[in-house]
Amino acid sequence: MNNGDSVVRAQDSGHAAGHDYVKGSPHLRHRRLREDIEGRLTGLVHDAISRTGACRVLEIGAGHGTFTDVLVAAGATVTVTEASEASADHLRRSYAGDDRVSVFHDETGEFVLDQDETWDLAVMISVVHHIPEYLKFFHRLQDLIAPDGAIFSVQDPLFYPRRSRASHLASRGTYFAWRLGQGNYARGVATRIRRLRGVYDETVESDLVEYHVVRQGVDEEAIRDLLSERFHVEVFTYWSTQGPVWQRLLERSALRSDFGIQATNHRP
Ligand SMILES: C[S@@+](CC[C@H](N)C(=O)[O-])C[C@H]1O[C@@H](n2cnc3c(N)ncnc32)[C@H](O)[C@@H]1O
Repeated sequence: MNNGDSVVRAQDSGHAAGHDYVKGSPHLRHRRLREDIEGRLTGLVHDAISRTGACRVLEIGAGHGTFTDVLVAAGATVTVTEASEASADHLRRSYAGDDRVSVFHDETGEFVLDQDETWDLAVMISVVHHIPEYLKFFHRLQDLIAPDGAIFSVQDPLFYPRRSRASHLASRGTYFAWRLGQGNYARGVATRIRRLRGVYDETVESDLVEYHVVRQGVDEEAIRDLLSERFHVEVFTYWSTQGPVWQRLLERSALRSDFGIQATNHRP
């Protein structure tokens, strides 16, 4: 089994039945972050509808469908993929009888890339950091986008080697302050010791599920360079942390921790 397979299997077990997507997710918990994402998604769907009369969306890694609802409300039809079987089942139940949404359990995490279909918009929200070879993934994803279509991705950690020391310290400090209130301390301490030693354990689920969060972050400039050959690309950066107080205090500061990519006007 290669590393990619074990990471996809970890998505399945790490997002099993009853998984709480909201708990550790700043973009779901904090109003301003969530509204920004919702506004961008709605704008992208409306753009496609005003161009072609419809908007076919591919949403990769939809979790429990928080943003699928937004896409549908904006007027899109959505194909949803999930590497977690439990989450795919949850989505199938949520959208049973709704022909605007079709759900696929993507066991390999790359089955979708082999499809002949094209979409007007591909969406990945808090997903790219779970994909070990994300540049290859984006490279292949481009071929699934219709002419003039778009790719939108958000809520991934900025590439650590380029981040300022202040932003690293603020991220770590605010994460620990939040983590202290969450219990399960034995696991937290074991994880911290491994991180301090710079060790990634390919048998430990959290190291595999949060693949790039525990390694180097995600290289936003490499993604921009790749997509710029065929899209107009905007990279936007912002502050994101779990605890609501730290989020409110720091979201208007100059600190940056996460990024999104809005790639539009596809020229195949
Ligand atoms: C952090 S959750 C985000 C869920 C949802 N997008 C949200 O923002 O609420 C990441 C999700 O992506 C899924 N995932 C990770 N890699 C995937 C892949 N290659 N294909 C499909 N789903 C994937 C995981 O199973 C998990 O449900």
